Amino acid sequence: MARTVLFLAFCSVCVPFAEIASSAQTADAASPPAYKHPQLPVDQRVEDLLGRMTPAEKARMLAGSGWMESFPNERLGIPAIKMADGPMGVRNWAGSSAVTNAAATSPVLTTAFPASIGMASSWDVDLVQAQGRVIAQQVKALGRDMILAPTVNIQRTPLWGRNFEGYGEDPYLTARMGVAYIRGVQGEGVIPSVKHFAANNEEFERHRIDETIDLRTLHEIYFPAFRAAVEEAGVWGVMNAYNKVNGQYCAEDPFLLTETLRKRWGFKGFVISDWGSTYSTAGTINAGMDLEMPGGEPMRNWFARPATQEAGNGAGWLTEEKVLAAVAAGEVRQSAVDDNVRRILRVMFTAGLFDAPHVGGGEVDTPEQRAVARTAATESMVLLKNEGGLLPLDGRKTRSVAVIGPGAAVARTGGGGSSLVRPKYAVTPLDGIKEAAGAQVQVSYALGVAMPGEDATMDARAALDEAVALAARSDVAVVVVGYSFKLESEGFDRPSMDLPAGQDGLIQAVAAANKNTVVLVAAGAPVTMTRWIHDVSAVLYAWYGGQEAGHAVGDLLFGIAVPSAKLPVTFPARIEDSTAYGHYPGENLHVAYGEGIYVGYRGFDKRKVEPLFPFGFGLSYTTFEYSGLKVSKPTVKKGETVEVSLQVRNRGTRAGVEVVQLYLRDAEASLDRPEKELKGFRRVKLQPGQTETVAFTLDKSAMSFFDPGKKDWVAEPGAFEALVGASSRDIRLRGTFGLVE
Ligand code: BGC
Repeated sequence: MARTVLFLAFCSVCVPFAEIASSAQTADAASPPAYKHPQLPVDQRVEDLLGRMTPAEKARMLAGSGWMESFPNERLGIPAIKMADGPMGVRNWAGSSAVTNAAATSPVLTTAFPASIGMASSWDVDLVQAQGRVIAQQVKALGRDMILAPTVNIQRTPLWGRNFEGYGEDPYLTARMGVAYIRGVQGEGVIPSVKHFAANNEEFERHRIDETIDLRTLHEIYFPAFRAAVEEAGVWGVMNAYNKVNGQYCAEDPFLLTETLRKRWGFKGFVISDWGSTYSTAGTINAGMDLEMPGGEPMRNWFARPATQEAGNGAGWLTEEKVLAAVAAGEVRQSAVDDNVRRILRVMFTAGLFDAPHVGGGEVDTPEQRAVARTAATESMVLLKNEGGLLPLDGRKTRSVAVIGPGAAVARTGGGGSSLVRPKYAVTPLDGIKEAAGAQVQVSYALGVAMPGEDATMDARAALDEAVALAARSDVAVVVVGYSFKLESEGFDRPSMDLPAGQDGLIQAVAAANKNTVVLVAAGAPVTMTRWIHDVSAVLYAWYGGQEAGHAVGDLLFGIAVPSAKLPVTFPARIEDSTAYGHYPGENLHVAYGEGIYVGYRGFDKRKVEPLFPFGFGLSYTTFEYSGLKVSKPTVKKGETVEVSLQVRNRGTRAGVEVVQLYLRDAEASLDRPEKELKGFRRVKLQPGQTETVAFTLDKSAMSFFDPGKKDWVAEPGAFEALVGASSRDIRLRGTFGLVE
């Protein structure tokens, strides 16, 4: 996993960054005057340009010119597509993860949003769309055209190093989030690239691993978010994954790129390779992969590194010379190359890159943009435990708060790798708590235990003793634990679900000293909590909260905001309970997805395993009552819809938001089906005592499963049960209907 090695040597999220302007990173001063014929329809402009291009000019368009740019064509006025990484904000684009995460390399300072797993915990599609919009505004302000996001790969195992980048374990929730993000981005005329198609669910040997996944599982679990991106959001760009699926590299798999993406779903955009994921010229073009990245000198330098080779990357296959040679040899038809160019140009015209180039220069990280990040952080943190109603803390009664732990005085804004954003500032939990507590409350800090790999200036025993003594003399102890971007990252998987060394012990020691102990976890996936969960009063799962995480923590602990987030993944008590256990990471470069469609709660339900916290779970400072479920008709004909409605009432004394979830059970089916599957959700904001009606419409797609025999989705006649609840294991209301021919 060579690419990760280099960036372990620095810390780029620990301190607020100085603002460094970089003119080379903004507008491309040398851009040629663009070809412009706005009066012509897009397809005509594409054909017009194509007709003027030489075979060499066409071939050149199939690979990047640099690390993050496609080839411009000055003669014809075709601009380069200028890219930047996402999804948690706009990341510096000057080189590989190893280079751009290094502290001194032309940092581009942008708004750091919560990790996508936190965004999914909000179950707030409007918020995610706003995030997409704001990120796209910053892409344009920096003179770029494309954001390499969103990541919609499913959380299959708690150990995947990139879990924080995705939207969790459920295909429906992931699809809703992905579609919202893409709509936000495309609405600004910026090109997204939904990634990584398909089934990039582990970092272990990600350039070589061959995954065996059956057709039904692909369609029901790993494809839906990509399908929705195409069919609902009309996404302009898709990035292929590094791994192999059923024996084929994703960049050269006609089943994925042509049969599924284009023919089955009607994708009209272009496919971009992941950085160094190509292994052939003819195979890649013929499969339907359009644009190979990176390219040019930066690609050659990077590819020449032993670490790149060792990792198993492939690159440099769609260079002009190689494409022309493949056409001359009859391995690739000229019409296939024309199609590649056509698809790239069509997106460029649709996004407005010819008519209104993104010259850059706008403001980045405006107060409005920061406000979106702050709302997002507040809506992303999940309250998992609140014994005796310790939270919210009362600023008038609490005299002292001890803030302890390796995550307390450091802003852990995101996980590591290509998604890591450098913000202009970042609020630590300690500072956020101080601000929310006000001058009356004494807020003190102790490290307790150092994060592995970070400077331990104090003797370990002394650090622990100091933290325990502080906890003992404080009214409340808040222990902030979790990972760092060096320990949870793209490029490698976590070795276990356990917290980093010393953190369990710290929580246990603090909890023994102070019964009012609150644990805050900053991580991108579930961690083992059974060693201390019963000893502490409260747990707030903060994920990586972006630059505003500290404010959100302060607001939530002191009740300035009320928690509303719910888990987008099942929290197993132990790794052995997780649904991919025994089918991960594979052997001899091969992994069989043996759990099939039974990923996450689908598997916990099937095997009747009790999770530590179920999918969809999260507490509030108020409680909600569900009543009056109605199903609009007892029987539904194929092609008709059915409505499920109910009332939700806020029974408490505080305003709050409830995420109401609708699951569907197919009671009679010719194939084995999950006990329940998420098919709808709503965020409902309710004042104390207020009641609101929530309604869901179910159509054929909600009732269907993928029949591998028919190679299609089918909705079989029979009984269905609608389950409405506050989590996947807290079903409050049930109703039935029958599907008839
Ligand atoms: C990652 C992609 C990323 C690309 C460019 C790859 O290593 O897998 O998600 O967009 O690098 O930085």
